[in-house]
Amino acid sequence: MPQSAPADHPNLPARTLVVLGTGGTIAGRASAVGDNVGYTAGEVGVGHLLAGVQGMAAQLHTLSGWVFEAEQVAQVDSKDMGPAVWRSLLARVAHHLVRPEVAGLVVTHGTDTLEETAWLLQAVLAPAKPVVMACAMRPATALVPDGPQNLMDALCVAATPGARGVVAVCAGQVHQAGHVQKVHTYRLDAFDSGDAGPLGCVEEGRLRAWQPWPEGTADRPLFQRLLATTAWPRVELITSHAGADGAVVRALLAASLPSAPLRGLVVAGTGNGTLHADLLTALADAQAAGVVVRRGTRCAYGQVVPGPHDALADTGGLSPVKARLALVLELLAADPC
Ligand code: SIN
Repeated sequence: MPQSAPADHPNLPARTLVVLGTGGTIAGRASAVGDNVGYTAGEVGVGHLLAGVQGMAAQLHTLSGWVFEAEQVAQVDSKDMGPAVWRSLLARVAHHLVRPEVAGLVVTHGTDTLEETAWLLQAVLAPAKPVVMACAMRPATALVPDGPQNLMDALCVAATPGARGVVAVCAGQVHQAGHVQKVHTYRLDAFDSGDAGPLGCVEEGRLRAWQPWPEGTADRPLFQRLLATTAWPRVELITSHAGADGAVVRALLAASLPSAPLRGLVVAGTGNGTLHADLLTALADAQAAGVVVRRGTRCAYGQVVPGPHDALADTGGLSPVKARLALVLELLAADPC
């Protein structure tokens, strides 16, 4: 059952899906159809992307009779994603989620930071309706673009009875916001859910689910603070590597200004979150100076298993990029109003 009914027809199921565009390769344009690399992301409007699949959608049992709306929230290459677009997106997603006739949302997004946006939306909004991230590895102008199928699949997932929470759809696979990560630079199935595995797959317009939908509780006060705050707490992400001598940490501390102080550091450690001894010394100094430090792993699979003598807290299973955002939220929530 879709989770709410239109206010003027309380007995009718909600059958509207809203597609919010933010840019990315799914909206990319190249000067030649054979060019899958030298294109500009975030060029084609979301209305155009939706129009391209609407005819086919009407023929699918899952989507037949549904109403679709498109809204352009942003038009960016997602490598440039940041608080300004996230604030707009959070606001528009929240706006549409409370509309009774809306059963779910699809967000078209670049693949490069999709996992960060998906995690943020789930962490703050924990929607009781589905919010499905759709993307592509080839531009819209490609000879054989993957965006239209991914968008169709995302619409089908959003129309699935009982669907909830933020998920991502790519190459026929559905990934939870908490697990999804981009793992390949070029392949069409560029995403993975790590050890957890995907939530399910889309087969001819129907979801086959292996795992439950993401759960969580919306944080309304945090949502309002994120929207009201233009300068989110500054949290940087660094990596441990052979020869990592801590100079980058000392430089960050030296450059920390009262107007934009360094509040947090996430370090992607080697293996089980281990750190070069010199980097560890610099991070311990940063922590002693009041910077909150979290330790993750640069491994694509697995998570840091904490030990009793760890000098630095771990990321609780979050990938370094998601842990960075989690720390931003934690620090913002802890700030005095
Ligand atoms: C982007 O992330 O916006 C560009 C790359 C992509 O979508 O695959």
